[in-house]
Amino acid sequence: MPLSEQDQWKKAAAEAAAKLVEDGMVIGLGTGSTAAHFVAAVGRRMLEEHLRITAIPTSEQTASQARSVKIPLITFAECGQIDLSVDGADEVEAGTIYLIKGHGGALLREKIVAAASKRMVIVADETKIVERLGSLVSVPVELVRFGWQATARRLEELGGHPSLRLGTDQNPYVTDGGNYIVDCAFGPMSKPKETAHHLDHVVGAVEHGLFLGYARQAIIGGRNGVKKIERAEN
Ligand code: 5RP
Repeated sequence: MPLSEQDQWKKAAAEAAAKLVEDGMVIGLGTGSTAAHFVAAVGRRMLEEHLRITAIPTSEQTASQARSVKIPLITFAECGQIDLSVDGADEVEAGTIYLIKGHGGALLREKIVAAASKRMVIVADETKIVERLGSLVSVPVELVRFGWQATARRLEELGGHPSLRLGTDQNPYVTDGGNYIVDCAFGPMSKPKETAHHLDHVVGAVEHGLFLGYARQAIIGGRNGVKKIERAEN
């Protein structure tokens, strides 16, 4: 099936990011449709250029794709640090490269991999760029199942208007970690660090989709080709 225009932008960004991969690196593999283009491109480079890399995937879905293109997977028991992780995002705040992630349901493993990476590069299409996080999408928050309603009430008090994510079968969506996700509609955030700080302290919340300070660079595909945007240093 031919790719939509947006998918072509995602693919172009992902293929540009695949050029950053060097022989011998440990790579963090993100989750989602843009990250999937990256995994495919890395698989191709390994085959064509005999690159030897190892990788840590951020979801079972990505692990399965990586195996299918013969990218060797390792665990954190076998490596201390990841050289480069490449992942998608649901929103990218221009200037700070702050992100909302987790609409693909993998935010917990994605944040663990981001935190263990020397360098994190985001791949996305231009529709994801925002002036303020929360302008387009809600903030996913992963909750342990026990007492999730009480945890969701706390998120309501924080102004998150949480709604439990459902799967295609209309049952609660369950993450790779066996948890639930509630999507919190905070609206455009003027102080995302404050919101992240509050979310960091909600008992029962395992992790949230505000990724602040992890990525320094984003590779963005769009109608005028691929652009790299860097975090403005202050
Ligand atoms: C998964 C994510 C994805 O990176 C995010 O949802 C973007 O997905 P896509 O590349 O399909 O637009 O955070 O948890």
